[in-house]
Amino acid sequence: MTATVSPSINAIETCNLSIQYSGKLALRDVTIAIPRGQITAIIGPSGCGKSSFLQSINRISDLIAGCQISGDVLLDGQSVFGSQIDLIALRRRVGMIFQKPNPFPLSIRRNLELPLKEQGIRHRDERDEIIRQTLQDVGLWNEVQNRLDSSALALSGGQQQRLCIARALALKPEVLLFDEPCSALDPLSSRTVEELIKSLRTRATIVMVTHNLPQAKRIADQVAMFWHANGSGHLVEYGPAAEIFARPKFPVTAAYMQGLEG
Ligand SMILES: Nc1ncnc2c1ncn2[C@@H]1O[C@H](COP(=O)(O)OP(=O)(O)OP(=O)(O)O)[C@@H](O)[C@H]1O
Ligand SMILES: [Mg+2]
Repeated sequence: MTATVSPSINAIETCNLSIQYSGKLALRDVTIAIPRGQITAIIGPSGCGKSSFLQSINRISDLIAGCQISGDVLLDGQSVFGSQIDLIALRRRVGMIFQKPNPFPLSIRRNLELPLKEQGIRHRDERDEIIRQTLQDVGLWNEVQNRLDSSALALSGGQQQRLCIARALALKPEVLLFDEPCSALDPLSSRTVEELIKSLRTRATIVMVTHNLPQAKRIADQVAMFWHANGSGHLVEYGPAAEIFARPKFPVTAAYMQGLEG
């Protein structure tokens, strides 16, 4: 009889994850299980390690001099620090979108063509079809279909952010990490990008850092509240968003939500 291994319901698990910069502890001992196909919002005051936490998941943190990680991060049950891990493949599986939109200084088309070529999609017709579909998925197609060969840098901030999301989606990621994706955008663009992120939950597991609590309340399934004490950040509480917003267990969470701290 062969045993079948059912896929974990958790897309990401961290076990006693701690992060240091040049020997100084920034994030302490985070153990958390992030369910697949949901939106998990990471909230908490500035400097409590939210970005550091995100960066450890696809090991972008490897690029930061002096950054040292202990504990583990499991992606689909497998350690991202394992010796077999291919970093390029890992970053394809786990895409990242930053606060400031960062399209390549190339045409709109090239921004999407590059990741598709990297994936080995050789035929131009196939790439063009995926580009059209992906731009439709992020609600940009109607706006840009007649200017695909113009510079991506000429797009508005909100359009650039949607293009960056399209670029990440083109690689068919399992996980998308968003670090304050709307905070550099005007309110209208912010709402458009927020709606887009909400709609992506069926395509990928989403982990999003946000300082915008109403936004977390609108779109998150799970909320993780980070805090800092004695110079380092830690996880205070974690659970279903509705519960954390209605009945926070810890006074710092309640205070943060009322805007009294942080
Ligand atoms: N590259 C780095 N080098 C040294 N220290 C760093 C580096 N990046 C972050 N830190 C430190 O680690 C701690 C956590 O920073 P991090 O950026 O993860 O916090 P954050 O919660 O994302 O804050 P914010 O809400 O302001 O973005 C802070 O004390 C910060 O100064
Ligand atoms: Mg940050």
